Amino acid sequence: MKLQRFLSRIIPVACILLLGSCTDSVTTATKLLQQLQQQGLMGEVKRNFDTKQIKRGHEIFIKNCAICHGQNGEGTADWRKPLVNGRYPPPPLDSTAHAWHHSTEELKRFILKGGPPGEGRMPEWQDKLSEQEIDDILVWVKSLWSEEIYEAWYRQIENR
Ligand code: HEC
Repeated sequence: MKLQRFLSRIIPVACILLLGSCTDSVTTATKLLQQLQQQGLMGEVKRNFDTKQIKRGHEIFIKNCAICHGQNGEGTADWRKPLVNGRYPPPPLDSTAHAWHHSTEELKRFILKGGPPGEGRMPEWQDKLSEQEIDDILVWVKSLWSEEIYEAWYRQIENR
């Protein structure tokens, strides 16, 4: 039950950074993941991404986002700990943090509009990147998630 240990570790800190509505979806996603595992229902959702779009997304990410989130979306090692100024460092976008607790629409809106005022330093991208470019980045981000995380996200967050 490695995954459950991992989840119970991240949940208490999972939503500090973002959207208030996130707490509920995290609890629900965790419960769902446990139910799916108990019922042996995991493994049915498959990603069917276009490899060219993944590549394009990664290239756009490297040019614009890697300076903060790392070349492979690994973020800051100590991303749970606020900096001296009280703000949080850029989190990982892979399955180790909580980007996967948000639907595509929420992630897209967040990237377009940037972080909430007074919280972090996530800039807004609405005047710098097209929606297509952000879609490409998000496909790449989702390609980083593990099979289990992607499936829980797809079933409970994206299609809730
Ligand atoms: C100047 C540093 C910086 C850059 C550049 C940056 N980010 Fe961020 N990003 C942050 C910080 C800091 C946060 C945490 C939220 C906050 O405090 O605003 C964040 C949060 C996020 C989140 C939410 C993650 C979660 O766990 O819910 C996503 C998604 C994201 N960034 C994507 C991007 C993408 C895509 C780009 C490039 C187009 C980008 N970021 C560029 C600093 C940055």
